[in-house]
Amino acid sequence: MDAPVIRTKSLRKVYGEGPASVAALDGVDIEVMAGEFVSIMGASGSGKTTLLHVLGCLHRPTSGVYELEGVDVSSLDDESMSAVRNRKLGFVFQSYNLLPQADIVDNAALPLVYAGVPPAERRRRAAAVLAALGLGDRLRHKPGELSGGQCQRVAIARAMVTRPSLLLADEPTGNLDSRTGVEIMGIFQKLNGIGATIVQVTHDPEKIRYSTRIIRLRDGRVESVETVREPLKAAAPDVDIEMLPPPGRA
Ligand SMILES: Nc1ncnc2c1ncn2[C@@H]1O[C@H](COP(=O)(O)OP(=O)(O)OP(=O)(O)O)[C@@H](O)[C@H]1O
Ligand SMILES: [Mg+2]
Repeated sequence: MDAPVIRTKSLRKVYGEGPASVAALDGVDIEVMAGEFVSIMGASGSGKTTLLHVLGCLHRPTSGVYELEGVDVSSLDDESMSAVRNRKLGFVFQSYNLLPQADIVDNAALPLVYAGVPPAERRRRAAAVLAALGLGDRLRHKPGELSGGQCQRVAIARAMVTRPSLLLADEPTGNLDSRTGVEIMGIFQKLNGIGATIVQVTHDPEKIRYSTRIIRLRDGRVESVETVREPLKAAAPDVDIEMLPPPGRA
């Protein structure tokens, strides 16, 4: 059997020091296998965002082990960690985090700047990914000219432009109406269908039913893990994932 994409062992993340310190993660052991679509649930303050930031190499754990595709990333230096983030991971934030002054092609192309891809090639690849996500007629638009759902598609395009094997999303539908949120689940299911492993954090008991497994956190620990027997299917009719260029030539 393949090694897990994600494996954590006794993962702890403590913010602050002394009596005021908070153990946001207090011994988390999880495994995520290639091709899974996992939802992380839990009350506000249970450590969901902290866990996703550690998994996304945005934060370093205080102690414990985090292996990404079999490599212990918690012991890497900052530069190696950034390289892993750029090569292997895509991150989608609840509030999109797009650059307001740049058109959506430049927004989606941003990770390719760090990857050292030349400008014309960057724009070509980003435009192809945006087109696959149903935004082919909006390429010159800026984020402020788009709806929330369209902005989230741009954020997903930016996360997918390097064709990462792992897509991490923190409350990706938290700012969207219910119908648009389901469309985002449809996009995730399509990306999952072509091999992307997905881990999303959500508060929404409806959205977890589109994923294949649910991990519940409580006070920085795993409370329960549940396999979804028959995940709901979400439609994303204007998304044509077949158009997404293959890895390496995105
Ligand atoms: N930068 C920080 N400094 C100090 N404490 C923090 C920091 N970030 C998070 N915490 C604390 O860590 C705990 C977990 O926070 P986290 O943001 O991971 O929760 P969450 O499950 O994502 O919550 P929410 O559903 O409200 O987004 C909370 O008690 C929070 O107050
Ligand atoms: Mg959070």
